[in-house]
Amino acid sequence: MKSEELKSGIYWVGAIDWAIRDFHGYETPRGTSYNNYLIDDKEPTLLDAVHHDFVHISIDNISRIISPEKIKHIIINHIENDHASGVEKILEIVPEANIYITERGKKGLNRFIDLSKYKVNIVKSGDKLKIGQRTLLFIETPMMHWPDSMFTYIQEEKVLISQDAFGQHIASIERFDDEFAKNNSMEDLEDAVIDYYANILMPYGSVIKGKVEEIKKLGIKINMIAPDHGVIWRSHIDKVLNLYSSMVDAKAQLSNVIVYDTMWHSTEQMVFPIAKGLEDEGVPVKIIKLRSTPKSVVIKEIWKARGVIIGSPTLNNGLFPSVAELLTYLKGLRLKNRLFGAFGSYGWSGEAVKEMYDVAKAMKLETFEPGIKVLYKPSEEDLAKCYEFGKAFGKALKEYHAKI
Ligand code: FEO
Repeated sequence: MKSEELKSGIYWVGAIDWAIRDFHGYETPRGTSYNNYLIDDKEPTLLDAVHHDFVHISIDNISRIISPEKIKHIIINHIENDHASGVEKILEIVPEANIYITERGKKGLNRFIDLSKYKVNIVKSGDKLKIGQRTLLFIETPMMHWPDSMFTYIQEEKVLISQDAFGQHIASIERFDDEFAKNNSMEDLEDAVIDYYANILMPYGSVIKGKVEEIKKLGIKINMIAPDHGVIWRSHIDKVLNLYSSMVDAKAQLSNVIVYDTMWHSTEQMVFPIAKGLEDEGVPVKIIKLRSTPKSVVIKEIWKARGVIIGSPTLNNGLFPSVAELLTYLKGLRLKNRLFGAFGSYGWSGEAVKEMYDVAKAMKLETFEPGIKVLYKPSEEDLAKCYEFGKAFGKALKEYHAKI
């Protein structure tokens, strides 16, 4: 995919990764892109690099605009490998370029590249760099989502280079939000934003909220947000900012998701009466079989719903492995403001239900107890209990949702 001009003299020079399906364990069924940007000003400036496997594409894209040897400044907004692992290749072309990076960024990147060979400038929030007609303003965004992270704001064109924030894991022919919405749908794009937030940024919601407030106080106007993944926002900026606000506040629908795995279908048989009980209480329910659904999709669906009920058989006196993996992932993402329930079948010991509640309590989720567990195979009486559990959970969920 060739370079594209975003505004006069400002170009996307990134690469599309159509093939990636596993992004450090996060399933990416639609691939992703590694976005970086070139400003063709008096002192040509590159904002971010790309994954090292794709840096030749980015260099080729830069070559369509200027000779890469002309780059004077390299801004590194984020040192994670998908963006910074291509920097060294670019520095081979322009070893004399000035690097601008946060203090923490330098410390981290130095573990990957020997920075002592290069001209490194430490920047902090409020620092500016004049590159000709344009001025770059740096805004540190620590823990959004790494300690080193920062935004760069191009003052004259009011473009915010936002690294991972506002990004999406989408490989697409469209570079802009309106193009993507036209050829696909706005709902599809919003879904990709939620997917990305839920799986990457959720633990840092309060940091994001504080940073958005700080940006508002700086009084800067934004008419383009250019993230390091996915499409660039030029037409739906308010929409994505509002979507982020609602995500940061952990807003959720009055709905429930039941996520389960099963060994010999006993836990699976418990799912449907529980769902029916919830539905009879007027609560919409989504059912997800863990083993046949990408984990990133499960997380996104859990994020959308106010209630989450997880089912796991007991295997070897503990959780079923796929459920244990999901709970570990969910705990790291620090989900909050959700009502949690658990169920499952067992053969002789039946620890899984308790273990799931233990994780939920460690996450400080509201729990609905007791959960429900069934020996070997649910009887008609057990299935009736599952239905009553679903109904009672649905009632509690409505009350909980009303007071959140
Ligand atoms: Fe896209 Fe945090 O790297």
